[in-house]
Amino acid sequence: MNPSLLNITPELTASVADKTQAARTLLAEIARDFPPVTFANSLGAEDMVLTDLIVEAKLPIEIFSLDTGRLPLETYDLIAAVDKHYGLKLKIYFPQAEEVEAFVRNHGINGFYDSVTLRKACCHARKVEPLKRALAGKRAWITGLRAQQAATRTGLPLREYDEGNGLEKFNPLADWTEKEVWAYIKQNGVPYNALHEKFYPSIGCAPCTRAISPGEDIRAGRWWWENPESKECGLHVKG
Ligand code: ADX
Ligand code: SF4
Repeated sequence: MNPSLLNITPELTASVADKTQAARTLLAEIARDFPPVTFANSLGAEDMVLTDLIVEAKLPIEIFSLDTGRLPLETYDLIAAVDKHYGLKLKIYFPQAEEVEAFVRNHGINGFYDSVTLRKACCHARKVEPLKRALAGKRAWITGLRAQQAATRTGLPLREYDEGNGLEKFNPLADWTEKEVWAYIKQNGVPYNALHEKFYPSIGCAPCTRAISPGEDIRAGRWWWENPESKECGLHVKG
């Protein structure tokens, strides 16, 4: 949805207040019971809500972002704005140079358009491998995933065991609606990606993300040339 079109009704305000309270409680419990814990921040709208909740409560939760090297300029601007707004430095992970160089030499600078296999290989080099380093030594990680985001995310729990990475995984906004996310952002003056105003509800790498048309699915602009079933990058593998 376009954030400027959001109509904040009393019902929406009430449900956001309830869910905010629940998310605050869960985040405090995670920080208490699973140190060291880290939060994967893609700078998307959901992750801005979580950043705000974590920073405002001064929770001992590390916050990191994976810089794939292909992010939109607006996302880099938001990284800088977040550092300034919250007085923190996001911990940025870059891909291993050798892996990206090998991919580009073998398949071309935009080789990910050629097949799902090559697209997943690019996501592996630029996101999945750096994620493994970001999660090393942690007992839990936090994501901004929501159940309503995609067919692949239906039934998403608040807490699950991430077998692939061998640690607990928490999705505190699993049951939030898109409207609740935007109501929180507006009500709390949270910074957000300028692309959201240009019909980009879900933002990943620049070459793999486009704007959507009214009525299209919120992830229709991600890897738009693929089927909905294949649209995961490997960060979130079901156990
Ligand atoms: S993706 O798998 O399709 O790329 P999506 O953009 O919906 O994921 O984001 C889902 C969650 O994955 C985010 O809320 C965040 O926790 C994590 N995530 C995705 N991309 C990144 C990134 N570049 N850096 C850190 N975390 C990320
Ligand atoms: Fe590569 Fe596109 Fe995946 Fe980014 S989203 S890592 S550019 S395939």
